[in-house]
Amino acid sequence: MLKNSLQSLGASRQLLRGNATRLGCLLLTAFCLLSVGCRYDMQDQPRYKYYKESDFFADGRGSRDLPAGTVARGQLHENKAFYTGKVDNPNPNVQVQTTTDASGNTLVSSFPNDIDTFPVPVTKELVGRGQERFNIYCIVCHGPVGNGDGMVVRRGFPKPPTYHDDRLRNAPVGHFFDVMTNGWGKMNSYAAQITPADRWAIVAYIRALQLSQNPNMKSTTTTGQTGANANTAAAPTAANTNTGGNANANANANGGRR
Ligand code: HEC
Repeated sequence: MLKNSLQSLGASRQLLRGNATRLGCLLLTAFCLLSVGCRYDMQDQPRYKYYKESDFFADGRGSRDLPAGTVARGQLHENKAFYTGKVDNPNPNVQVQTTTDASGNTLVSSFPNDIDTFPVPVTKELVGRGQERFNIYCIVCHGPVGNGDGMVVRRGFPKPPTYHDDRLRNAPVGHFFDVMTNGWGKMNSYAAQITPADRWAIVAYIRALQLSQNPNMKSTTTTGQTGANANTAAAPTAANTNTGGNANANANANGGRR
């Protein structure tokens, strides 16, 4: 008797459990159907795409101007010397006299607004990086040692001035940075291709090139520690430059054969 009733209790519990599962399934389906039915994604909301027109704003543009003084992350270029090569308070009224040489190059020998010392420590690594960048971007016109006899010049491109005259030997480092950043006469700006840090590396390498072609030169535009470092870096750099010269001669020979 007891056994029987226990058995029927187990059976009805099983029945109940089966019903509960079915009910659960039903509820879940209903929930899913409902939630799909109510779906309203953020991407479907009314909004403006960049530069789309709008009749909401008086000027008819969907995009708004940035609030004055907005600076993108990582672009607060506070270090003026590093980013421009210019002194802190450049005088915009200073008139710089320029002359034009026989090749039509714009020559200037006073640099009132350019900084005279490197805004970064000059290390062997920096000069090495500068050599690499110079050989990528500048060598084609300025030649392996900066004489202005690069490969495209030999094929008819306007000849740039040599780096090895007193005018450019005495030019402050900021001038070289400025030339790369803003372009100079016939030469294009390299700001888009070369980061400010790499531009300084190239300036350091140009200084090393100048020392390598004029070993008696006293580094006039660098001071103290920086000058000493530039000197240390000059020796291996000059040796590397010679290798560059040889490679160039080979390239020339190939060019001649073609
Ligand atoms: C496509 C050829 C070309 C390339 C590449 C080139 N330059 Fe020049 N560069 C010139 C010419 C041409 C001039 C002379 C411009 C003038 O005075 O009108 C010049 C002038 C200069 C001057 C002298 C400015 C002065 O005061 O007379 C410097 C310094 C210089 N370039 C540095 C560089 C550096 C650094 C690079 C590489 C980042 C570079 N150039 C790449 C063609 C080039």
